[in-house]
Amino acid sequence: SVPVANVQALAAAIDGQTDIPPRYIRPEAESDPIARDDDGQFPVIDLKRLLDPEFSEDETAKLDHACQEWGFFQLINHGVPDEVIKRMKDDIMEFFKLPLEEKKAFAQLPNSLEGYGQAFVVSEDQKLDWADMIYLISRPLHSRNMRFWPTHPPTFRATLDNYSLELKQVAGCLLKFLAKSLGLEPGIISNIFKDQPQGVRINYYPPCPKADKVLGLSAHTDATGLTLLLQVSDVQGLQIKKDGKWFLVDPLPGAFVVQVGDILEILSNGKYKSSVHRATINTEKERLSVAAFHGPDHDSMVGPLRELLKGGKEHYKSMSYQDYMKTFFSAKLEGRTLLESMKL
Ligand code: SIN
Ligand code: FE2
Repeated sequence: SVPVANVQALAAAIDGQTDIPPRYIRPEAESDPIARDDDGQFPVIDLKRLLDPEFSEDETAKLDHACQEWGFFQLINHGVPDEVIKRMKDDIMEFFKLPLEEKKAFAQLPNSLEGYGQAFVVSEDQKLDWADMIYLISRPLHSRNMRFWPTHPPTFRATLDNYSLELKQVAGCLLKFLAKSLGLEPGIISNIFKDQPQGVRINYYPPCPKADKVLGLSAHTDATGLTLLLQVSDVQGLQIKKDGKWFLVDPLPGAFVVQVGDILEILSNGKYKSSVHRATINTEKERLSVAAFHGPDHDSMVGPLRELLKGGKEHYKSMSYQDYMKTFFSAKLEGRTLLESMKL
């Protein structure tokens, strides 16, 4: 990988005199038309209703529709205690306020993804995202590498540990309903996610005086199975692509944004869509988000579920999850490039 500048420091140094380095200028940020969810079509799924025998069937049908049409939904009544979420928000805001040198104690190593730094960059001329991040493998417990886990604020590690456990449970529960909504036995998908691997990526988007010319995160799909995204404040930024249009997501207070990832699209043989999304920047306010990725076990083979095929055609190649992730990180992939290369 190619080392890149710290964006928080870069943003702090920008004034009337200095210009934004050209590698951050993204013509598409300015030219793509943005649609609004004026008729309130964005799907909202209620976990409490999924779990309630009286409403479960209805809500499962809504889930099915959301994953087919959008590959994304907001999840309400998820049962994660407010306190766990609040601590997570407070602690990450605290971490990003630290002086750069202190944050760097947890910096990525060359060619590693874990730790404090920036998204993976593979060439000197690649366009850059206006964001810093800290990426940590949170589950299974033996995969944690504590050298990358911040020790300031002092509560950080315990906070992330609690958050990780709560989200693992929500993801596990959703995977059961996703199997059901595909018409399968509830355990069929969660069996492939047995060790419940989870990674957490905390995104920090500094403000930018030319916000409409940069992107916080380029258009991409999530390579994993299921992402639970927490918006730390009410500053907007997340956009989802549907039918060639970008929609600005207005996060519901207390909800998680759930993204269907590539692995779910492949497992479902294309019935469910891995959503293309990106993050935009605000001129005055910083924005933070926490994405928790849930994927299959590293050595599992990922391909269309046999139980779904019933003699029909497979639309995707099979590959080990490990190899899929390796390919994902070895090239700069825009939008659905990698996923499309898996199609038969
Ligand atoms: C992501 O795609 O991982 C994050 C998007 C966001 O910050 O809203
Ligand atoms: Fe994402």
